[in-house]
Amino acid sequence: MKVIWNKEIVDRASVKIDLEDRGYQFGDGLYEVIRAYNGTLFTIDEHIDRMFRGADKIDLKMPFTKEELKQLIISLIKENQIDTGNIYFQLTRGNGSPRNHAYPDPEKVTPVFTASTTVVPRDAVLMSKGVAAITIPDMRWLHCDIKSISLLGNVMAKHEAHKVGAFEAIQHRDGIVTEASSSNSWMIKDDVIYTHPDGNLILAGITKLVILKIAREAGLKVKEEPYTLEQLKQADEVFISSTTLEVMPVVTLDGASVGDGKVGPIVTKLQELYAQEVT
Ligand code: PDD
Repeated sequence: MKVIWNKEIVDRASVKIDLEDRGYQFGDGLYEVIRAYNGTLFTIDEHIDRMFRGADKIDLKMPFTKEELKQLIISLIKENQIDTGNIYFQLTRGNGSPRNHAYPDPEKVTPVFTASTTVVPRDAVLMSKGVAAITIPDMRWLHCDIKSISLLGNVMAKHEAHKVGAFEAIQHRDGIVTEASSSNSWMIKDDVIYTHPDGNLILAGITKLVILKIAREAGLKVKEEPYTLEQLKQADEVFISSTTLEVMPVVTLDGASVGDGKVGPIVTKLQELYAQEVT
């Protein structure tokens, strides 16, 4: 499979990243993951818009227009003949040597872009069974809206989940559920769907955006408002969402069953609606 390195499609082995690349040294960069269904990148514009918004927030000058970026990633999907799979791409601020925390003069650095693809089918089995999650204090920073490649906080939270055989870690800050380590978190109580509002405490998920739209269109009651850890534990249904997971039921929390421990009716409905959007 080919990859993109800056604006070229190349063999992976020919990619060279400088050891003083600021992405490598400081985690100074942004990333996106977009899912391809039937050879088409789903919600591509929304993902590209989010990367541009992130770039604005960290004063990173994008080396291409939105349209150029769009054509670039589409070209890799075509080149690698990805039907159902993912494209991962990232942009770092580039080689800023000599090492210095301060942003270098944008005239003196060239951002470095890379993209790669993987073939990943939809995981129908996992989506029908659901997953286990733990709850954990949110120890990350206060710019969770930026899809930064600095993911150590998220990685540490996920590791805590994996240590006990769980799939995901749902995080909470000051008693309020924020989001999971690599997905957004949702709960359903008395037929109302709750998820944390966008802002600096969570990533404004593109899947979240799609779910909010399809849920509202279907006449389901949705409240984009904070909910507590206690409410989460008393929920009828819980799920997480991301580009790669879609609508993924959570059937146990810290080892205890969510509701009756089975995938519930509203989550099932959302899965059906989501599948209609993407297939
Ligand atoms: N993760 N919150 C966090 C912390 C995430 O890392 C992600 C996505 C989401 C969901 O965003 P979206 O619906 O736009 O994928 C929420 C990606 C998939 C990843 O890191 O692989």
